[in-house]
Amino acid sequence: MLVHIERVLTREQATEALETLSAAPWGDGRETAGYLSTRVKDNAQLPEGHPVARKLGAAILDSLGNNPKFIAAALPLKIVPPLFNRYRAGQTYGSHIDGALRPITGSPIKVRTDLSATLFLSDPASYDGGDLVIEDSFGERRVKLAAGDMVLYPGTSIHHVTPVTRGERVASFFWIQSAVRDDAQRSLLFELDDLVQALGGKEANHKEAVRLAGIYHNLVRFWADS
Ligand code: NI
Repeated sequence: MLVHIERVLTREQATEALETLSAAPWGDGRETAGYLSTRVKDNAQLPEGHPVARKLGAAILDSLGNNPKFIAAALPLKIVPPLFNRYRAGQTYGSHIDGALRPITGSPIKVRTDLSATLFLSDPASYDGGDLVIEDSFGERRVKLAAGDMVLYPGTSIHHVTPVTRGERVASFFWIQSAVRDDAQRSLLFELDDLVQALGGKEANHKEAVRLAGIYHNLVRFWADS
């Protein structure tokens, strides 16, 4: 399941983030790539734990903590602190799969990467190329979103970023361990949750909405880790 989360940051916040990031000390993205990925990865990354990354990352996580669509879609247990990358003209990241377990630097915690997230910071009109292409059971899905918007996609999918041919593409990316590791189960719960909300909004359907909410929570009890 691919989920578009609108306005995690406002356009103004995204612009401000870009300004702060433009003065930050970017490093070579290959430094953090796995064995296979170093061959196909060509971008810049902000060093993990840099104060700018921490500050902007905290703002992103704050916003997501209050976003009902994100919470319903991801059922998050643990989130890797957001990282930041930049592609300039000619840069790209070929087909790869994200590592299954991501350590949180400076802690013994590892996050199982059930979901990958990309939050677009650059205005899509300011660059060409730089599409995130995700391979799922429907084939290839191309994603390029407005500044401040985010896509959630299964960490199990092979994906790539097409070469940037004009301008620069700056984004934040991170991973989420969900209480429900299986994408199909999580998708079903997301759909059911949406139905409960829709039914619950109408007084006439109150009893049915409560019964359906019961099924939702009992399925979560069957499937969730904690
Ligand atoms: Ni990736």
